[in-house]
Amino acid sequence: MAPPLLLLILLPLLHLLGPVLAEVPDHYAVRYARPGASANAAAAAQEYLDPTYPLPPPPPMAPACTVPVLSHSFANTYGAAPATAAYAPPPGCPAPWSQVVLSFSVEISGDQYDRVAAVWLDGAELLRTTTAEPTPDGIRWTVRKDVTRYSALLRSPPAGVLSVMLENLVNDVFTGLYNVTVSLEFHGTPPYPLISSVTPSSDKPKLPESYFQAPADLILPISEATGDSGYWFRIQNSSDTRSSLLTIPTSTYRAVLEVFVSPHSNDEFWYSNPPDLYIQANNLSTGRGNAAYREVVVSVDGRFAGSFVPFPVIYTGGINPLYWQPVSALGAFDLPTYDIELTPFLGLLVDNKTHEVGVSVVDGIAEWLVDANLHLWLDPSWLEVKAALGPYQTPRLSISRRYTTQALNGSFSIKAKRKSFFSGWVSCSLGNLTTEVETETEAKSLVEFTNDGTNKTVELKVERETEVVVRSEKGKEMGKLSTEAEYPLSFYLDTEDVGEDGMSVMKGSLSHTLDIQTKAECGSFEREARLVDEQTAAGWMLVKDHDVINGTATTSQRYRYSDGRWEYERSIDAADGAVLSDNVSEKFSPPDDHLQAAATACLPGTGTGTSCDGTPSAADIAAM
Ligand SMILES: *[C@@H]1O[C@H](CO)[C@@H](O)[C@H](O)[C@H]1NC(C)=O
Ligand SMILES: *[C@@H]1O[C@H](CO)[C@@H](O)[C@H](O)[C@H]1NC(C)=O
Ligand SMILES: *[C@@H]1O[C@H](CO)[C@@H](O)[C@H](O)[C@H]1NC(C)=O
Ligand SMILES: *[C@@H]1O[C@H](CO)[C@@H](O)[C@H](O)[C@H]1NC(C)=O
Ligand SMILES: *[C@@H]1O[C@H](CO)[C@@H](O)[C@H](O)[C@H]1NC(C)=O
Ligand SMILES: *[C@@H]1O[C@H](CO)[C@@H](O)[C@H](O)[C@H]1NC(C)=O
Ligand SMILES: *[C@@H]1O[C@H](CO)[C@@H](O)[C@H](O)[C@H]1NC(C)=O
Ligand SMILES: *[C@@H]1O[C@H](CO)[C@@H](O)[C@H](O)[C@H]1NC(C)=O
Ligand SMILES: *[C@@H]1O[C@H](CO)[C@@H](O)[C@H](O)[C@H]1NC(C)=O
Repeated sequence: MAPPLLLLILLPLLHLLGPVLAEVPDHYAVRYARPGASANAAAAAQEYLDPTYPLPPPPPMAPACTVPVLSHSFANTYGAAPATAAYAPPPGCPAPWSQVVLSFSVEISGDQYDRVAAVWLDGAELLRTTTAEPTPDGIRWTVRKDVTRYSALLRSPPAGVLSVMLENLVNDVFTGLYNVTVSLEFHGTPPYPLISSVTPSSDKPKLPESYFQAPADLILPISEATGDSGYWFRIQNSSDTRSSLLTIPTSTYRAVLEVFVSPHSNDEFWYSNPPDLYIQANNLSTGRGNAAYREVVVSVDGRFAGSFVPFPVIYTGGINPLYWQPVSALGAFDLPTYDIELTPFLGLLVDNKTHEVGVSVVDGIAEWLVDANLHLWLDPSWLEVKAALGPYQTPRLSISRRYTTQALNGSFSIKAKRKSFFSGWVSCSLGNLTTEVETETEAKSLVEFTNDGTNKTVELKVERETEVVVRSEKGKEMGKLSTEAEYPLSFYLDTEDVGEDGMSVMKGSLSHTLDIQTKAECGSFEREARLVDEQTAAGWMLVKDHDVINGTATTSQRYRYSDGRWEYERSIDAADGAVLSDNVSEKFSPPDDHLQAAATACLPGTGTGTSCDGTPSAADIAAM
């Protein structure tokens, strides 16, 4: 017995309100075949892409060896342990290498959601990636990442177990199996002198040119010890600090923590979450709240040691999945990592005792997958260094929030800033070196709901500057590494009910950029590099629940990298799943003198070269 009176009252009300954007999933699977898509199983899988530097970059480096490591079909792997395979370095290409490239290739057909995946070697993460959503005809792609900075681990892995975690769900509807192959390529020998062959003279101390370039001598994972559900820490809330206990060699003279993060579930779209007061005032059922500021914090023995606001990576099912076919969103295939220079803190760490390195997420809600690698450089001739942390003060986060709400309309603005300065000295065979690390992070966020909650606008802008200065005992500047990163994101989504069946149309546009500049100076070595990666997208989609059942979209991407020696640019226009134009221009000027030849090894930022620590790469906000 239907209560007709109630229906009469409710229907116009519902129609008036339309879908409330704070409640829509923002996360979809494309569930329709485009006109022209063949139902032919023999059709070639379409290549998906995220433009980055072609690796290895010029000039060609010999010798080269390829080691196939793992091949696995990820079917119903939800809750399962990672897939594993044995790894050993190639006898034909002995270390040291000028470049090592990890290749992660995927093939899939059918329907499936995007998934997060990671590759670890003995619990140390090498790659954090997310997958593209397939089409019935099938898609494939390859992520190529410069992993030279993990040379120490690749040269002598403690156990030689490579693991890949990719939790997938397969049923009658979501049929796609992610078929993954992982291989490693080893190229050349590094042309810079190794630190052990540099003899400093005590009256004229000088940093070796490889100081900021050479990969670490030892890498210790800060990650979940067992790895049965992946080696990542699963951070649930802002008081959930996860840590590893470790003892580092007493000969350590430099330390950098590289952090991997990806937000999921209620925080996948953290940069568009409204505050809880908006959710409560409107009786919404969403858990995606706590407003739109997040900051990942690193601690050493409970002391704040560094932080960053993560780059907002949009996974391929996010916001409007049609934007990300066949070009994925910035960083989705190779999530940026974040370097925190911990050298000033060595004074706390080199006493041959156990210490705690922790990670947490300011304002975070469930859940964040976070882990880190501690890169350590060891003195070739001293068994013990001496070190001390300078005057220490916990840097303050200054944050201001302005929220206004009127029923489902709302405007939520947040401004945050954190400035930190740490210094510490390490007395080692290179001299008594003082390292100063100055960081300034600023974030501005605006989330607005208009038209009674049916139009959402998001603006985020993050700026981060870091300067690492190494000084002699007399205060003379011996080396400097500076990084400036900027990442603006802006988009809107507009929604309207269409007819019955709970279907709605969403229109919108989006633009985001990753802009990183780095400069490394050390003796006569000097290198500047810049990466500017920009995307814009626009379109509409017809959605029902989590399914996109019709729509159209265009995406443009412009990827530019230059380091004074190498210039690379790639511009892509795509529409409705097809590439319309794809233009590449590159220029390589071979170095003309010996010194420069040495520097070439560290094509910083090609993220390649030799993991010039501290230079940008397509996917690394390394040294940020
Ligand atoms: C993935 O691997 C499975 C199992 O080997 C195979 O049946 C399937 O055809 C493969 N899919 C693709 C797209 O290659
Ligand atoms: C935060 O998460 C941890 C780990 O799941 C849990 O033990 C703790 O109770 C949570 N704290 C709050 C305030 O929810
Ligand atoms: C939310 O729910 C409470 C209690 O059920 C009710 O009093 C209030 O009017 C509701 N508010 C809105 C905006 O629907
Ligand atoms: C560090 O501690 C280990 C075991 O506790 C000991 O074997 C080693 O000699 C110590 N090293 C130094 C440099 O004190
Ligand atoms: C919400 O904002 C829209 C304009 O965006 C306005 O037409 C509407 O009246 C506002 N609703 C309320 C409850 O203030
Ligand atoms: C929704 O907001 C965007 C930008 O904030 C605006 O361009 C668009 O016209 C709005 N849509 C409607 C229907 O008001
Ligand atoms: C190293 O230099 C700092 C000042 O730069 C000084 O305070 C410290 O005592 C020196 N350490 C050693 C072992 O000489
Ligand atoms: C999708 O939308 C377009 C434009 O409105 C329409 O021509 C087409 O028939 C729709 N396709 C489906 C499968 O509904
Ligand atoms: C690629 O080059 C062609 C010819 O110069 C031009 O028409 C097109 O707009 C370019 N595409 C992009 C994405 O820059």
